[in-house]
Amino acid sequence: MRRKMAAGNWKMNGTEASLAEVDALIAAHPAPACEVLLAPPATLIAAMAARARGTKLAVGGQDCHCAASGAHTGDIAAGMLADAGASHVILGHSERRADYGETDAQVCAKATAARVAGLVSLICVGETEAQRDAGETLAIIGGQLGGSVPEGADGSNTVVAYEPVWAIGTGRTPTLAQIAEVHDFLRAELSARFGAEGAAIRLLYGGSVKPVNAAEIFATLNVDGALVGGASLKAADFGAIITALEAG
Ligand code: 13P
Repeated sequence: MRRKMAAGNWKMNGTEASLAEVDALIAAHPAPACEVLLAPPATLIAAMAARARGTKLAVGGQDCHCAASGAHTGDIAAGMLADAGASHVILGHSERRADYGETDAQVCAKATAARVAGLVSLICVGETEAQRDAGETLAIIGGQLGGSVPEGADGSNTVVAYEPVWAIGTGRTPTLAQIAEVHDFLRAELSARFGAEGAAIRLLYGGSVKPVNAAEIFATLNVDGALVGGASLKAADFGAIITALEAG
């Protein structure tokens, strides 16, 4: 049985003052029936983790380096995220693939480093609009999945997030049939490669998930939760998404 997960990606948003939203979220959802994760910018990980200590809220990073330490100015090692109180890390987000040219091989190396550091990786895959229009969606996603998920991945160390690039921050979402098609494909690919371990890897949908559309997305087969951007910044919105997931 895969435990459902509501994950929030704050991206490059949030300052110390934003932690009031975390307090509000914890107060409103002290005992969620699903796993709840927030990934703030690195500057807030330690402070958010301090507030989350002793609660059900998990805290994650948004990226890590593949090396354990060294001369990599501006980068953060997986072990440093863990040291700051993170238990998870988002890897291979399309914004990092686009902004920094991150490759599947780099994402894979980061995921291995994360596992060594004891972090759960949320590995992101997703097609652009042009790729979907060209009928390449499953080929692109299959390639990203195969190249980005390392050997040894299982339900305890890996979560996969399907985030169509054209649905991120746009207010547009795929049809439920389109989500189901990709999630069924991801489930089959992971099961074929990792067997029962692959069947235990949770699949999150991400891209314009809001309180208004969360319930129908969560009712879709092989959707084990959501990776939420904009709507995770406000406790009321993210809380409503958590509630929808608990009910689904
Ligand atoms: P939005 O929910 O703002 O579309 O962002 C999705 C996302 O990229 C989460 O990682």
